[in-house]
Amino acid sequence: MKMIKKNLKYQSPGINEENRYEKLHTVTFDNSQEASILIAREICDLVKSKQEKKKNCVIGFATGSSPTKVYQEIIKIHNDESLSFNNVITFNLDEYFPIEKDDNNSYHNFMKENLFDHIDIPKENINIPSGDISEKDITKFCSNYEKKIEKYGGIDIQLLGIGRTGHIGFNEPGSHFNSTTRLITLDHTTRFDASKSFNGIENVPSKAITMGIRTIFNSKRIIMMAWGIQKGLIVKKSVENNITSLIPTTYLQNHKNTTLVSR
Ligand code: GLP
Repeated sequence: MKMIKKNLKYQSPGINEENRYEKLHTVTFDNSQEASILIAREICDLVKSKQEKKKNCVIGFATGSSPTKVYQEIIKIHNDESLSFNNVITFNLDEYFPIEKDDNNSYHNFMKENLFDHIDIPKENINIPSGDISEKDITKFCSNYEKKIEKYGGIDIQLLGIGRTGHIGFNEPGSHFNSTTRLITLDHTTRFDASKSFNGIENVPSKAITMGIRTIFNSKRIIMMAWGIQKGLIVKKSVENNITSLIPTTYLQNHKNTTLVSR
């Protein structure tokens, strides 16, 4: 029997017998390593093709455990194939609020450790919401974040994990489709899930600054990752439920270039 090699090329969901229940393009792998290699390859191919055209490549990065293998693969490609990232502009999805940049649990720290310290994206091209600004400056900061994304022509490729509540970035259930970068209050489940690394739920910040649903939706390509049994239920809801603000991932069913990659 001829083995069909899986690929991430976008296809309209729900058009074949075997994916008749899918409202979101989904590719399922036996292991997250194989999937992460393909995701890293897609990102690096885009960086390279933009480089050849002397253009910037705008990438939206995510945090959490889901993208870590993708980051390891990107670093490997950078080293093995001498691929430079000097044409890359990055916008991270979110950051806790309040939090210092050098806090072990900050997403600034996460990105440095897992990716930015190992490849050659110019420092001035890196954008992550600031968790250490004064509360009165947040609205201005968020609107500037949006303007900066627009100034670079929008996000070419956006990586996403899924929170157990169905959040993308930190857009918790109830987030409006038209939401843009803003301050949001975290759900109890989200804080509970983060409590281990913060050494107790009482140490998890109660808020975060996150790109909005609209900000994410405007990306030209979106790859959403969900690994393992603990994400099974939310993956099923994301793919099969009707679109509802109660499950923010379902908004992506209307996006014409989103692939959910799962194991
Ligand atoms: C946090 C992040 C999300 C991430 C989620 C899932 O809430 N803000 O962007 O998708 O965690 O994390 P994990 O990938 O570890 O399951």
